[in-house]
Amino acid sequence: MEISVLILLLKLLMMHIFIFQCALSSSSSFYSSSKTNNNTDMFASLAIKSKIQLPSNSPILSSWNPSNTSFCNWVGVSCSLLHQRVSALNMSYMNKYGTISPHIGNLSFLRTLNLGSNNFRDPTPEMIGKLHRLRKLNLRDNQLEGSIPSTINGQSLSSLEKLILQYNNLVGTIPSFVFNISTLKVIALSYNGISRGIPNDMCRMFPKLETLYLLVNPLGGHIPTSLCLCRNLKELKLCENGLTGSLPTNIGCFSEIEYLSIPINQLTSTIPISLGNLSKLEFLDLSKNNLSGNISELPDSCFPKLSGIYFRSNQFSGRIPDFISNAAMLTILELSNNSFSGPVPITLGNLRYLNILNIGINQLTNNPTQREPHFLTSLTQCHQLRYLDINNNPLNGSLPESIGNLSNSLENIDLRGTQLQGRLPYQIFNLSGLLKLRLEFNNLSGAIPSNIGNLRKLQQLYLHDNKIKGNLPH
Ligand SMILES: *[C@@H]1O[C@H](CO)[C@@H](O)[C@H](O)[C@H]1NC(C)=O
Ligand SMILES: *[C@@H]1O[C@H](CO)[C@@H](O)[C@H](O)[C@H]1NC(C)=O
Ligand SMILES: *[C@@H]1O[C@H](CO)[C@@H](O)[C@H](O)[C@H]1NC(C)=O
Ligand SMILES: *[C@@H]1O[C@H](CO)[C@@H](O)[C@H](O)[C@H]1NC(C)=O
Ligand SMILES: *[C@@H]1O[C@H](CO)[C@@H](O)[C@H](O)[C@H]1NC(C)=O
Ligand SMILES: *[C@@H]1O[C@H](CO)[C@@H](O)[C@H](O)[C@H]1NC(C)=O
Ligand SMILES: *[C@@H]1O[C@H](CO)[C@@H](O)[C@H](O)[C@H]1NC(C)=O
Ligand SMILES: *[C@@H]1O[C@H](CO)[C@@H](O)[C@H](O)[C@H]1NC(C)=O
Ligand SMILES: *[C@@H]1O[C@H](CO)[C@@H](O)[C@H](O)[C@H]1NC(C)=O
Ligand SMILES: *[C@@H]1O[C@H](CO)[C@@H](O)[C@H](O)[C@H]1NC(C)=O
Ligand SMILES: *[C@@H]1O[C@H](CO)[C@@H](O)[C@H](O)[C@H]1NC(C)=O
Ligand SMILES: *[C@@H]1O[C@H](CO)[C@@H](O)[C@H](O)[C@H]1NC(C)=O
Repeated sequence: MEISVLILLLKLLMMHIFIFQCALSSSSSFYSSSKTNNNTDMFASLAIKSKIQLPSNSPILSSWNPSNTSFCNWVGVSCSLLHQRVSALNMSYMNKYGTISPHIGNLSFLRTLNLGSNNFRDPTPEMIGKLHRLRKLNLRDNQLEGSIPSTINGQSLSSLEKLILQYNNLVGTIPSFVFNISTLKVIALSYNGISRGIPNDMCRMFPKLETLYLLVNPLGGHIPTSLCLCRNLKELKLCENGLTGSLPTNIGCFSEIEYLSIPINQLTSTIPISLGNLSKLEFLDLSKNNLSGNISELPDSCFPKLSGIYFRSNQFSGRIPDFISNAAMLTILELSNNSFSGPVPITLGNLRYLNILNIGINQLTNNPTQREPHFLTSLTQCHQLRYLDINNNPLNGSLPESIGNLSNSLENIDLRGTQLQGRLPYQIFNLSGLLKLRLEFNNLSGAIPSNIGNLRKLQQLYLHDNKIKGNLPH
């Protein structure tokens, strides 16, 4: 029986890699201590409580009341040992509704205010500007509206280190009075409606800024070259910000940067050579832009710490450059849907920690002097390989027997549309961890090897649009 179409779906389980391009992040640290009360702080705390609606099982209902002598023991309250005043208020994840009372401004010894992950509405309370000792302000994941109040400025909050306002409904600009807070280390404004671009003078006053998260805001505009003034940046996340124009040619200025993420924008330039100066980089995501050009000009060994490269869905061309094979710590290499050409380098086998290799949808070839794609043999050295996707490249060769020596942890192989010829080597069915194998749209011939039953975990096997004959063994 000629099998022209053979789709075996043993189970319907999706085996995609999900790349959370706009990855989320936050951090926290609190001080705490104990002891007696003080009427101002108790009054303010009770006023805050009166403005919020609490679920009946809330620990605040039983704990926050005047007859409970020491409010320093109330749930979520921490006091400074020295002044016996409220130094930290942590009311995150308490399912609170309502508004934030302006009395919050009376907790004048507050250093940490965390009201994150509740359902507070209304504008951000301006009285926060009275909290002169505040170091960390976390109002993330509420439904705060309007623009960032002007009381959040360098004169009133002169010690603020963390400004965390992500996941709200804030609009307006990134205001210039915030730039005056020279103590800031973390600015997280992600997932709001903030627009009108990344301000040109934004980094003028931020000598200490380490973390800037602006992702998923309709900012628009260019990435200003003056961003380089934030020269201690370790993490820059600009995913889905409607950015146009070029990657700044001075991007190599961020000598401390570890996490650089600018995917899902409309950047149209080439990659500046100075990017190769970012030797501390661990994560680089430029996916889903309109970046182009030959990236072979970056230095051969520039990213000793890099563990993830995401260049998916751009217009990069030329060969897969040496700096990639030399990034020895790489675990994820995602170059799919570009115009990379030339032979797939066998040096990819040097990447001992490689977990995910996706070079699908390019113009990559086999080395034309060889019948078998030897780079596949080189990948047998990647013992942690889990996901191998080369689909839709004109490899034009036959599958080597060494494919059976690929990592036992391989779960997913996609070689569809790669102009493969010849037989299916039985060794492929040695890959006992496989969940999904796609070989359709090739010129494979011969019979299905009888040892297919070895693939006990296999859930999806695609062999259609080949010249494979025979029955599926049981
Ligand atoms: C703040 O409160 C939440 C909810 O009670 C808790 O999960 C979190 O660990 C607290 N954070 C700190 C730093 O105490
Ligand atoms: C507030 O606390 C301070 C220091 O313990 C104390 O001296 C003062 O009396 C307290 N104020 C009130 C109104 O209890
Ligand atoms: C006082 O607060 C503590 C700590 O939250 C709580 O365990 C206790 O039940 C409260 N006592 C009263 C009398 O409300
Ligand atoms: C507390 O804050 C409210 C509102 O901002 C203000 O009216 C009141 O005077 C303050 N009380 C104290 C004791 O500071
Ligand atoms: C920033 O601070 C300086 C001095 O501290 C002040 O002159 C300037 O007006 C402030 N700018 C903004 C936008 O707040
Ligand atoms: C990159 O490094 C080279 C050599 O260390 C240096 O000359 C150049 O100025 C750097 N470029 C940037 C943009 O920092
Ligand atoms: C992407 O860049 C190419 C040139 O490299 C240009 O022709 C095309 O219009 C650009 N597409 C978008 C959506 O900007
Ligand atoms: C490939 O990239 C183009 C834009 O460059 C996009 O329109 C298309 O959806 C992408 N295809 C895949 C499979 O990601
Ligand atoms: C890409 O750049 C390298 C190094 O500069 C050069 O040798 C190669 O010819 C370029 N390829 C293309 C297609 O421009
Ligand atoms: C594949 O390579 C052979 C020579 O090895 C050549 O004859 C054939 O045309 C190539 N097929 C395609 C589709 O390029
Ligand atoms: C598979 O690996 C074994 C052990 O390293 C080796 O002896 C054998 O030749 C390899 N098979 C192929 C086809 O490369
Ligand atoms: C099959 O895999 C084992 C390790 O699981 C390896 O030792 C052996 O050489 C492989 N055989 C072939 C034919 O690739």
